[in-house]
Amino acid sequence: MKAIISDLHSNIEALDAVLEDIAKRNIKEILCLGDIVGYGPSPEVCIDRLKEVRIALLGNHDEAVLTSDTTDFNARARRAVEWTRKRLNDGIQGDPKKMERWNFLERLTPVVDEGKFLFIHGSPRSPTKEYVIPRDIRNRSKMQDIFRRFEGVCFGGHSHLPGVFTEDGQFLSPQDLCNVYLIEAQKAFVNVGSVGQPRDGNPEACYVTFDDETVVWRRIPYDVQATRRKIHETEGLDDSLGDRLLVGK
Ligand SMILES: [Fe+2]
Repeated sequence: MKAIISDLHSNIEALDAVLEDIAKRNIKEILCLGDIVGYGPSPEVCIDRLKEVRIALLGNHDEAVLTSDTTDFNARARRAVEWTRKRLNDGIQGDPKKMERWNFLERLTPVVDEGKFLFIHGSPRSPTKEYVIPRDIRNRSKMQDIFRRFEGVCFGGHSHLPGVFTEDGQFLSPQDLCNVYLIEAQKAFVNVGSVGQPRDGNPEACYVTFDDETVVWRRIPYDVQATRRKIHETEGLDDSLGDRLLVGK
């Protein structure tokens, strides 16, 4: 059994609740699909928690923090990237802990291809940047092109909207599936949801467990108010980034 987590977004309260749930299930193998940082108030400790994961991918926010290129970002996301970069990078010379975290971000990889399973943050066409969202099922050429680029199952995050896109053109939410998807002969693109900033109307942290045949979405309550408070207390982060956590939007 493996656990796949994504879009932690510097939310340590959500991440720790998820890691505790993973430990309770005795799952040793964790894969992270990116966006470790950005939006939230606790980037350092989130990076520190990920030392043991088998796969850690690069998300668009991680990339923006490293490069300071925020071209595709809206104003509050850009401010959060700038705040995060400053916090991780200022005074890095002569601070081995800071250097180690920065090096960890620099080592994040955009794609892991294991044949039957492909792991990315966004989409196989543009690993860190492209969104695949439920209404894309009406964009058949986009979906067909994406499905041509992998075999088996592609796991992604980025949209913060959990669910599965099937090769025959459907989008099924975890509610549609009673939280369980049985991997079939047809290809599937599975969105694992977001640990640190869910956007499907459910504020509980989201991740999946996966045993090569079955994907199960798990929702884990955590102290949302504590994260919200920290965001409100952080000068460089917009208050709305805390408020949205309450409603999962
Ligand atoms: Fe994200």
